[in-house]
Amino acid sequence: MKKRILVTGGTGFIGSHTTVELQSAGYEVVIIDNLSNSNADVVDGIEEISGVRPAFEQVDCCDLEALEGVFQKYEGIQGIIHFAASKAVGESVEQPLKYYENNILSLVNLLKIMPKYNVKGIIFSSSCTVYGQPDAEFLPVTEQAPIKVAESPYGNTKQINEEIIQDYVKSGAPVSAIILRYFNPIGAHPTAIIGELPNGVPANLIPYLTQTAIGIRKELTVFGDDYDTTDGSCVRDFIYVVDLAKAHVAAMERIVNGKNADPVEVFNVGTGRGYTVLELINTFEQCTGVKLPYKIGPRRAGDIEKVWGNVDKANDVLGWKAVHTLEEALSSAWKWQQRLREKGVM
Ligand code: WQD
Repeated sequence: MKKRILVTGGTGFIGSHTTVELQSAGYEVVIIDNLSNSNADVVDGIEEISGVRPAFEQVDCCDLEALEGVFQKYEGIQGIIHFAASKAVGESVEQPLKYYENNILSLVNLLKIMPKYNVKGIIFSSSCTVYGQPDAEFLPVTEQAPIKVAESPYGNTKQINEEIIQDYVKSGAPVSAIILRYFNPIGAHPTAIIGELPNGVPANLIPYLTQTAIGIRKELTVFGDDYDTTDGSCVRDFIYVVDLAKAHVAAMERIVNGKNADPVEVFNVGTGRGYTVLELINTFEQCTGVKLPYKIGPRRAGDIEKVWGNVDKANDVLGWKAVHTLEEALSSAWKWQQRLREKGVM
């Protein structure tokens, strides 16, 4: 019998790609999403790619009763992957309570329910944002690097949620957890059937870049070229979303098979390599043949100068490695943007 997994936020960017990979690996997926930042059509896309339609329930994880109803309806859920969260850094500064309420209550509700329904473990979407700007001696950053004071309420919710998981497991709760700290996820499924679809003007680099390349935005502004990096622009570890999705499958195998060495494990999920923003723009132009209008602007408040991951632990322990190149990731993002145009979405 197929193992049943609950994916919260499963119609979102990373959740949808992870659902595809879980289904290909033989899991049965139940998606819940409140559709606050995604669309139920994504379920059709997942079915089109994988030939399997995941169960879908429009449920908000903050609604404990509705959430428990899902565990009653779908018996025997063995693991949870918890993506559902608000994630706009800027908005979190303006509306901190929305972030604290949404992101923390969701996790607390899931943790509360898990023992009652014998759910073995949870995978939590965390972020390299917990490291802030690592000191030079900690680059590439390992899981042992110090956690820095968060730059935004959004980042703080990631730190607090990690602590909640640690405390809950320490209290003797019969659950295990794997915390995945993502670097910068980019790209879209190679079929261009699912991808990233932010509301309004994108705050993140890749959607802004592809929307500029297709003419929706006039030009991209590179936020600063006077950082202490090879060309002065910031350095990030850009990871292809399909690679990232596969890291979740590897982590879930560990949980459902009881292979985890500790009840809470933490892994960096990145490529282990950093690129500057300008290098990324050049790579995009080269691999797509599209000239990107851009200008250099001032630094963006709160930006980290450079961060990329040491991913040895995920490579060795999870047996997982990011295999796709930046070119592949950027080409897929461009193909996705063109598909949105063809479909008349934008
Ligand atoms: C990347 C680089 C910008 C836009 C944030 C969150 C993180 C994670 C992903 C998720 C930076 C530069 C960007 C633009 C630019 N969480 N840039 N012009 O800030 O590294 O990480 O998103 O949901 O937790 O903090 O990602 O894509 O915004 O920026 O020059 O128009 O691109 O300055 O150096 P970031 P990003």
